[in-house]
Amino acid sequence: MRYITLITFALLGLSNASKSALFEQYHTQRQTAGFRNFTEINQQPVIGVISQSLETEMKGDSRFQGYGSYVMQAYVDWVEAAGARVVPLIRGEDPEVTKRKLKGLNGVLMPGGDGDYHDYGRLVLDIVKEMNDNGTYLPIWGTCAGQHELLSYVSSAGWDVLDVYDMDSASLTIEFPYGDPSNFAMFAGMGPDAWLLTEYNVTYNSHHWSLDPYKFQIDRGLMAFFKPTSISRMPDGRKFVASMETTGLNAYYPFYGTQFHPEKAANIFNPTQAVNHQWESVLLNGYFADFFVQECRKNPQRYGNYSETQKDIIQNHKLIVSTEWFDNVYVFEGSSAYRLMVSVGLAMAAFAMLI
Ligand SMILES: *[C@@H]1O[C@H](CO)[C@@H](O)[C@H](O)[C@H]1NC(C)=O
Ligand SMILES: *[C@@H]1O[C@H](CO)[C@@H](O)[C@H](O)[C@H]1NC(C)=O
Ligand SMILES: *[C@@H]1O[C@H](CO)[C@@H](O)[C@H](O)[C@H]1NC(C)=O
Ligand SMILES: *[C@@H]1O[C@H](CO)[C@@H](O)[C@H](O)[C@H]1NC(C)=O
Repeated sequence: MRYITLITFALLGLSNASKSALFEQYHTQRQTAGFRNFTEINQQPVIGVISQSLETEMKGDSRFQGYGSYVMQAYVDWVEAAGARVVPLIRGEDPEVTKRKLKGLNGVLMPGGDGDYHDYGRLVLDIVKEMNDNGTYLPIWGTCAGQHELLSYVSSAGWDVLDVYDMDSASLTIEFPYGDPSNFAMFAGMGPDAWLLTEYNVTYNSHHWSLDPYKFQIDRGLMAFFKPTSISRMPDGRKFVASMETTGLNAYYPFYGTQFHPEKAANIFNPTQAVNHQWESVLLNGYFADFFVQECRKNPQRYGNYSETQKDIIQNHKLIVSTEWFDNVYVFEGSSAYRLMVSVGLAMAAFAMLI
């Protein structure tokens, strides 16, 4: 018996030794690829996902009664699969609450969708920019409408920088006309795998708006802040910006955007959507979550201890399981409650002035 135990220990010791050599090799390979070339200072990243107003059809659906904004579940699952937790940044909540949350979060995700968060997103961007200016590395990722919002905030033309590029649902390839993708922060960690995106249609698109790459040559606000890192094409050949990252004097802001939806491949099975579910597609799209969450791991902030964080994670909110709006959505009361509070406050102030 004793010998068996000893032999087991010896074997365990051996396998641990070879495991750690393998781990070293893996780690070094990834670092050489530019992926994990930093000291991981936060292994428990918490990401703020911005909620948006209900879409028109939701407002007429009784399941949404009493709720003011939503977040699609796919965005939550996407970052969670890369090792993060999610706290919602609720459109309409007291700005002081948002500010307090941002002091504990490690990154912000501006998702896609047909709802609105234009003003709220700008508030979040302004705070996050200031925090970065103050020396706190705090990343933002914008997907589809999130990329549009980021563009509209920095562009000299505002929202008008965008043009209509109607694409209902398609999985496309991307192209790298701006040079080797490994020169861009957002693609560097993929190494040569990035070129697979030019051959296989794995980037899912669904949009009304998009950006003409030419705008980077004529819009001062835009060209000072972002640079395009890849493009895709409409069926008629028109180019649009598929991804972007910060540039020049603003390159120290870790802000990224994609026109395509990397959260769909692993999470959306609605047969009305042309999502590419091939294993390669799931892996390649998952890379972007790994990259973004890895960026968030560079931020040292702590949301709170485990039980404090549990109180605020998105799973505290109602999930509506649906076959519409792509899939399931989390819904929030926040906005109407805050509006009520503000209007009660205003009414009291008006009353105080009257007497
Ligand atoms: C990784 O970091 C080391 C040391 O800081 C640096 O010499 C090397 O160029 C970096 N590699 C990449 C791919 O960024
Ligand atoms: C940035 O730093 C300034 C000066 O210390 C401070 O007043 C401000 O509140 C900080 N901003 C944020 C968003 O933390
Ligand atoms: C990918 O492109 C091929 C043609 O190259 C097409 O048959 C297929 O439907 C596309 N896949 C998706 C998910 O759009
Ligand atoms: C977490 O923080 C709360 C509030 O500060 C505190 O009451 C609680 O004891 C802490 N829990 C742990 C396990 O430290």
